[in-house]
Amino acid sequence: MFEKSATFVALFFTLPYPCPQLVTLSILLKMDYEWFKAEIYTLTGIDLNLYKEKQMKRRIENYISMHRLGDYKEFRNLLVRDAGKLAQFLDYITINVTEFFRTPEHWQQLEELVLPRMQSYNVWSCACSTGEEAYSIAMSLAEHISTENIHVLATDVDERVLAIARKGIYSENAIETVPEKYRTKYFERTHDGYKVCKEILQCVEFRKLNLLADEFPKDQDLILCRNILIYFVNEAKVEIYASFLKSLKPGGFLFTGHTEQMIHYKEMGYCRLAKSIYYRYYR
Ligand SMILES: C[S@@+](CC[C@H](N)C(=O)[O-])C[C@H]1O[C@@H](n2cnc3c(N)ncnc32)[C@H](O)[C@@H]1O
Repeated sequence: MFEKSATFVALFFTLPYPCPQLVTLSILLKMDYEWFKAEIYTLTGIDLNLYKEKQMKRRIENYISMHRLGDYKEFRNLLVRDAGKLAQFLDYITINVTEFFRTPEHWQQLEELVLPRMQSYNVWSCACSTGEEAYSIAMSLAEHISTENIHVLATDVDERVLAIARKGIYSENAIETVPEKYRTKYFERTHDGYKVCKEILQCVEFRKLNLLADEFPKDQDLILCRNILIYFVNEAKVEIYASFLKSLKPGGFLFTGHTEQMIHYKEMGYCRLAKSIYYRYYR
């Protein structure tokens, strides 16, 4: 691929545009990527067609170049041979950045606007990464409700982050964004960090779920779907929002990322409560 890229650049400076050679080369590069996406789907069940192409392709090509590999084929062969590299690559493309109590406005709005309207507490954190979001919601609810009545289903497509989440052990840096009152109440100091206390761990169930392929859980009172849909193409987003509606109880809430607001929420059957907070019509 990089040989081809070099030829591509050379041609760019020597040939007038539009030129058939350039068009042929760009089609070839595109075909490599098309082939690679199909291979990744076979290996992992993840359909890269549903992720925004420009962003994803750039990330993958950076990764290939970081590993000093020649082309998509060589890279695919490495992924087939080495399960560790495959897991690492999935981590890289799925972007696991997260933190406790991310987007502070949401947690305040949860307390002030959402909690007073909730009667039961089935919550789904649907791209939970290493678990910080799921534990944040469990701690917030536990301030007001008996933990016996709190069930947080936390899902992600990436098994590696789920394994970290299940342990519930975080570094001192990671818990910096946890409000002081929760830090002392819900974490225990251990030799390898700060462990979420048993009472909170028991409220959260972690499970693998691919938002682009798997069936969604039903009867949810609140869905947190934050900082994931920005990576998906529009058709996928619309389908996911429509499926969330079926997952929510009437009146159930949906939090999206601050940059992922729903445009046609009314037509889809949602009402808007605040910026990036919606709820299902009562019907
Ligand atoms: C940026 S993190 C967001 C974590 C958390 N929701 C937050 O806002 O801090 C995005 C997560 O989405 C997960 N993800 C990517 N593609 C997914 C898919 N198709 N289905 C489910 N989760 C996916 C990634 O593994 C990653 O952990």
